[in-house]
Amino acid sequence: PKRYSITLLPGDGIGPEVISVAKNVLKLAGSLEGIDFIFQEMPMGGAALDLTGVPLPEETLSAAQKADAVLLGAIGGYKWDKNEKHLKPETGLLQLREGLKVFANLRPATVLPQLVDSSTLKKDVAEGVDLMVVRELTGGIYFGKPRGFGTNEKGEEIGFNTEVYATYEIDRIARVAFEIARKRRGQLCSVDKANVLEASMLWRKRITAIAADYPDVELSHMYVDNAAMQLVRYPKQFDTIVTNNIFGDILSDEASMITGSIGMLPSASLGESGPGLFEPIHGSAPDIAGQDKANPLATILSAAMLLKYGLGEVNAAKRIENAVLDTLNKGFRTGDIYSAGNKLVGCKEMGEAVLKSVDSPVPAA
Ligand code: NAD
Ligand code: IPM
Ligand code: MN
Repeated sequence: PKRYSITLLPGDGIGPEVISVAKNVLKLAGSLEGIDFIFQEMPMGGAALDLTGVPLPEETLSAAQKADAVLLGAIGGYKWDKNEKHLKPETGLLQLREGLKVFANLRPATVLPQLVDSSTLKKDVAEGVDLMVVRELTGGIYFGKPRGFGTNEKGEEIGFNTEVYATYEIDRIARVAFEIARKRRGQLCSVDKANVLEASMLWRKRITAIAADYPDVELSHMYVDNAAMQLVRYPKQFDTIVTNNIFGDILSDEASMITGSIGMLPSASLGESGPGLFEPIHGSAPDIAGQDKANPLATILSAAMLLKYGLGEVNAAKRIENAVLDTLNKGFRTGDIYSAGNKLVGCKEMGEAVLKSVDSPVPAA
């Protein structure tokens, strides 16, 4: 059988709950395709802070770098919110993305027919939405220098950050986005703030330059404030969106709600080479952690993206995607996607239902 090593980073809050479910689904889908996984669980985020004093221990990063792929739950929580910056769980996550050099973050938002009633948007607005946010992940204001705290002329405390992009960073994310758009519906919308920010002016210039290599893709540009509005006005206008680190963070949370819940959205973070990082777009949800209420589907679908984008195991990925659809067809719903007439279940029961569906696939209707 084929063998892959997977580093699991459960993290904090609902992270361990959703990872334990997704691990079992991954294992079963793999075994049905003759794939063996060697799982290695490592501490990350707040859990690592409590255990080792740092949010991303060297052993965790080096295990992740040596793995074939990395599956992460979520990190963060009230307990560590007031930590100094270098001792925040979130800093560990940024170090992990940087350490794995995963500059391209794919966040697909698809409205499944089964969940149209879970969207807060009207049925005719939400129905049929199928978009992909390509978020630049290792640059921009998250990493730009100078950054820090200081004092201004009046002696007042200030905090400052820098939005900075170099040509090579824009060019490489542009190519990823054009390639994806080419395989989808051939439309790419670049979202920026080029009416105000120099970093966005360069962004627009480079995206436009790279477009010359992709004459088959229809490129458009949109300011981010308008994009935020258009996403809830008429989301079906979007196919592929490419944008910077912080706009992609915000717009993907917004896009998730069109699909019914942030608990549905998976992601894949990829670099030029080396293992990919796969994680739901949601956080550690401290408000529901430890209560078996979390929706594990975003993490299960991230495991499917791991198979597809990380390992090229398209058939195993399809097994998981089909099982999720089958589970929703049977009416299983966690609280975040519940609508009248369905079966309200917790994280574990949802996981068991998906496992059953992986085991006995239902032929597509
Ligand atoms: P969050 O995504 O954790 O939660 C926002 C809301 O969505 C909450 O009401 C939560 O209960 C709900 N929610 C999230 N995931 C869900 C799921 N799978 N099923 C059902 N409901 C779900 O965002 P937040 O509250 O702003 O942040 C909480 C912590 O998570 C913070 O420490 C933040 O820094 C961290 N965070 C981590 C990541 C990550 O690990 N990638 C992402 C975002 C936020
Ligand atoms: C995400 C999160 C992270 C981000 C935080 C926790 C650092 O919001 O994965 O979307 O801003 O990228
Ligand atoms: Mn986010």
